[in-house]
Amino acid sequence: MSDLVTVILAAGKGTRMKSSLPKVLHKAGGKSIVEQVLTAAKGAGAKRQIVVTGFGGEQVRAALSGQAEFVTQEEQLGTGHAVRMTEGLLQEEKGTIMVLCGDTPLLTSSLLKKLYEAHVENHAKATVLTAVMPDATGYGRIIRQADGSVEKIVEHKDATEAERAIHEVNSGIYCFDAKALFSSLAQVTNDNAQGEYYLPDVLGILQKQGEKIWAVAADDYEETLGVNSRSQLAKAEHILRQRKNEALMAEGVSIIDPATTFIDSDVKIGRDTVIYPMTYLESGTEIGEHCEIGPSVRIQNTKIGNFVTGQFLYAHDAVVDDHVKLGQFVHLRPGTHICEGVKIDNFIEVKNSTIGKGSKLPHLSYIGDCDMGENVNMGCGTITVNYDGKTKFRTTIGNNAFVGCNSNLVAPVTVEDGAYIAAGSTITQTVPKDTLAVARARQKNIPGWVDKRKR
Ligand code: UD1
Ligand code: MG
Repeated sequence: MSDLVTVILAAGKGTRMKSSLPKVLHKAGGKSIVEQVLTAAKGAGAKRQIVVTGFGGEQVRAALSGQAEFVTQEEQLGTGHAVRMTEGLLQEEKGTIMVLCGDTPLLTSSLLKKLYEAHVENHAKATVLTAVMPDATGYGRIIRQADGSVEKIVEHKDATEAERAIHEVNSGIYCFDAKALFSSLAQVTNDNAQGEYYLPDVLGILQKQGEKIWAVAADDYEETLGVNSRSQLAKAEHILRQRKNEALMAEGVSIIDPATTFIDSDVKIGRDTVIYPMTYLESGTEIGEHCEIGPSVRIQNTKIGNFVTGQFLYAHDAVVDDHVKLGQFVHLRPGTHICEGVKIDNFIEVKNSTIGKGSKLPHLSYIGDCDMGENVNMGCGTITVNYDGKTKFRTTIGNNAFVGCNSNLVAPVTVEDGAYIAAGSTITQTVPKDTLAVARARQKNIPGWVDKRKR
């Protein structure tokens, strides 16, 4: 069993985002960027996760509640100071503490696992994840000794010209032996260009004590990129989206145009499903096998079965079973369950309703707060009148009912099994089983009326 504990630093304000929202709560890939970090760390085997909060702490805690433990850093005196805040919580820990930043949403579990395993296998007191950056400006530089081992990390602002020429940088992610971390943090001072307590100073301190320091280089520096501005947020979003599309295609999903397909990190899609352009599949969504989704679809937190087609559609917080046809121009709202074999076509809205197996809603309907049975035919323009201005009421429709075009079903009302409703009816009372209801004025023809009017 893994002994890995992670500490995620998220106390900074993120000034360059120019936002009232704490930086780490901005979203990329459908999740806040700090949640992307938590997910990657969890995948690497973290058994405990501690988030250090400061700016916007209440908001961060609320957003991550249940996913982590929290400590507060009242004043942002540096990354070393931030980690010290966790000492009380972690003093019993004897294994490995991995420190990460809350603003690096592109990290993968496999890279963090590689860092952790190298740290454990080498019996190091500290292991830093490094990356070779084309432009290393602003990053801490990795200073190595003649034998290649890490001597220390020097912050950009404290570095000499020669040190600034180094392209291998500190990613800001490390593994530490828990005891060694807190004992050396106590020795870190703020005697530097920024007057801050630097976490990376711990490596230099341990090295001087003759302890083993190790470094793992990321193959792809992209994974370690941090988000400091809206522009970097958009880049992170783009990379996460590309990764998601590639992963899905590798699993047997067809994506006609990845450039115009936006799928959040946690979405699941089955094999042989085809995704057409201009499609947004958002957090909490699951789609089965052999579906055709899109073009122009937005689906949020909705479960869709197998062999479903959906185009020009917006669905949120709904459930759709197998062999359903949806769209064009369909809106499925929360609490909706579309059962197997249903057809919902042109300009239909369904809210908080169950549509029973094999039922058909072909054109121009509003179905709200309705329990519909199987094989019901809802004629063009049928409406459930579910709201009297104060309260919502339910409509119940039995199996095999046939509701004629342009009917209003004024809830609460029941249409029993096999009942027929004449077109243009406004139904206010129960329609009994196998009965025809006609609820409209009789037509009266007046011969000669037109001639008379002309004269
Ligand atoms: C840090 C590293 C640098 C590394 C870079 C990688 C230090 C001193 N430097 O620099 O070597 O190359 O990350 O991105 O650590 N934070 C707190 N409390 C604080 C200060 C920071 O929680 O008092 C958090 C921030 O919210 C952020 C993270 O720590 O998530 C990193 O802080 P930041 O100020 O961005 O450090 P860098 O200057 O980027
Ligand atoms: Mg930074």
